[in-house]
Amino acid sequence: MTPSAENKLPVPRHIAIIMDGNGRWAKNRGLPRTAGHAAGAESFRRIANYCRTLGVEYLTVYAFSTENWKRSEEEISGIMRLLGAYLKEALRDMEKNRVRFCFFGDLSRLSPQLQKLCNEAQSLSSEYDVQVNFCLNYGGRDELVRAAKSFAEDVAKGERKPEELTEQLLESYLYSADVPDPELIIRPSGEMRTSNFLLWQSAYSEYVFMNVLWPDFGPADLDQAIEEYHRRNRRFGGV
Ligand code: IPE
Ligand code: IPE
Ligand code: MG
Repeated sequence: MTPSAENKLPVPRHIAIIMDGNGRWAKNRGLPRTAGHAAGAESFRRIANYCRTLGVEYLTVYAFSTENWKRSEEEISGIMRLLGAYLKEALRDMEKNRVRFCFFGDLSRLSPQLQKLCNEAQSLSSEYDVQVNFCLNYGGRDELVRAAKSFAEDVAKGERKPEELTEQLLESYLYSADVPDPELIIRPSGEMRTSNFLLWQSAYSEYVFMNVLWPDFGPADLDQAIEEYHRRNRRFGGV
């Protein structure tokens, strides 16, 4: 853990957030759901910046799940438009913001333009303070199935043997290979479930569920989640 610049409390190295509640935020205001997603994107900008000033090394955010394709075409294209706009802006400001981008999820289902922006954002950023992992068309189960398939392919090619498989080796087939597990996972919006987020990586994460909707989530809420994390007694199966 690195010491926080603001309050001297050590901050977790890796924080993950399920950015939920955009739709309800919009509904409460009589606005279309897409307006909620636009406000959610603003909230993400604010929190990513704050994480950087706190000294958080990895920020993983759930932006679009493998199940979110069940939504209306209008809502999905609105979300994708916002993502594209955000990535364009990020590509421009990346150096200034010293952020490195990574994408967890099957990007092949996204539009070619959006895939191109993701690839550009991922290939840049050498010098950085914080790595942002964007979960896009991400599902924890899908991630595990893909890892199992890749390993099986390597076995079929004779590059691996089944008995070689360990937790560590399996991890190297996940989107999160080389990223430490999140110490803290935050879900705003009042829902208390994982919704298929980081199933493997969350084995010993501390969950903090909060009643605020994601567009209203600010630095003070993140401070509160970190304080709650510090009150937890992490035993990892010990005593
Ligand atoms: C999270 O907000 C954003 C995505 C899932 C893309 P929601 O759109 O799920 O907002 P609620 O849960 O309906 O309020
Ligand atoms: C989880 O939120 C996915 C994201 C925040 C991207 P959902 O709104 O899709 O989850 P459920 O449907 O409430 O479980
Ligand atoms: Mg939701």
